[in-house]
Amino acid sequence: MSVKVGILTGGGDCPGLNPVIRAAVRKGIEVYKYDMIGLYHGWAGLMDKNCGPLDLRAVSGILPRGGTILGTSRTNPAKIEGGYEKAKQNFMEMGLDALIAIGGEDTLGVANKLNKIGVHVVGVPKTIDNDLSATDFTFGFDTSVNIIMEAIDRLHTTAESHDRVLVVEVMGRHAGWLAVYGGMAGGADVILIPEEKFDLTEVCQHLKKRHAGGKNFSIVVAAEGALPKEGGVGSEFFTKDKSLDAFGHVKLGGIADALAKAIEKNTGFETRSVVLGHLQRGGTPSAFDRVLGTRFGIAAIDLVHDKHFGKMVALQGNKIVAVPLEKAVAKLKTVDKDLYDIAKVFFG
Ligand code: F6P
Repeated sequence: MSVKVGILTGGGDCPGLNPVIRAAVRKGIEVYKYDMIGLYHGWAGLMDKNCGPLDLRAVSGILPRGGTILGTSRTNPAKIEGGYEKAKQNFMEMGLDALIAIGGEDTLGVANKLNKIGVHVVGVPKTIDNDLSATDFTFGFDTSVNIIMEAIDRLHTTAESHDRVLVVEVMGRHAGWLAVYGGMAGGADVILIPEEKFDLTEVCQHLKKRHAGGKNFSIVVAAEGALPKEGGVGSEFFTKDKSLDAFGHVKLGGIADALAKAIEKNTGFETRSVVLGHLQRGGTPSAFDRVLGTRFGIAAIDLVHDKHFGKMVALQGNKIVAVPLEKAVAKLKTVDKDLYDIAKVFFG
């Protein structure tokens, strides 16, 4: 009987998922002669035994495609009564020998729990947020940074034509990697991140100084999870409403709008807001993300072959290594102070 290996993609999608699936399936079938099975819509696929064969034809032509051919969701087995046991039972009933879980902190947290109760899991780190520990980069991040950079380039010309301040809201709930990399690449004049609470008066001072120095426009980049200091424009996460996603996270949004109003009031400069939202997750992956995804996919199927379960593939330096899932999900990787200090040199 041939070995049956399942693959699922969980959490927010990101460019580079399909290259991972393609690589794992190609080597799984062509080299190891495995039966590859796709589980649909993240952990929901395991909870509902919703799956189908992943043959060579299914992965043909998907390298440049954004999103995931398997679909995704934020289904959390922990929120279902007896969820982990049910997941394990389904894993066995489906005749799976191993499962490759491609996801971020949430998906890999579930993978880690399942591994502990005997499900043979291997993890692949995915998130545009780049906030997973134990890996230098996650795929999807590079594509997203390029989208943000291009958006800021475009916003520069309209901001300059209209003498405006533009506040750009980017993703990043607990970590400001996208804001810092995207903002630095785009030449933002102020960058606000969740790791360091901001002071509105200080932000306005930077802008006033810049405009006094002869500039007539500015670009402010704010991570959706950036927080003002006590007594600022708000001291909690900015949310449109208090609703939660399926995994239990409050849905963020609104910081750019709130900041734009506060900046205009404080400085007198006409200010507008732009929310990049899901544009940051869509479309074709960059070359870097296609290559990283491919390397991760190959490393993941190799881990399955070597029966190294409970591990996550990771990029460290220029090498792909395997790290314990436990270590990868223990804590979020936040922006280094040194990097943010470099970005700050260009504020104002
Ligand atoms: O995948 C993580 C993330 O990119 C966060 O930065 C953001 O808060 C979240 O996705 C939003 O995703 P969705 O609207 O799809 O739930």
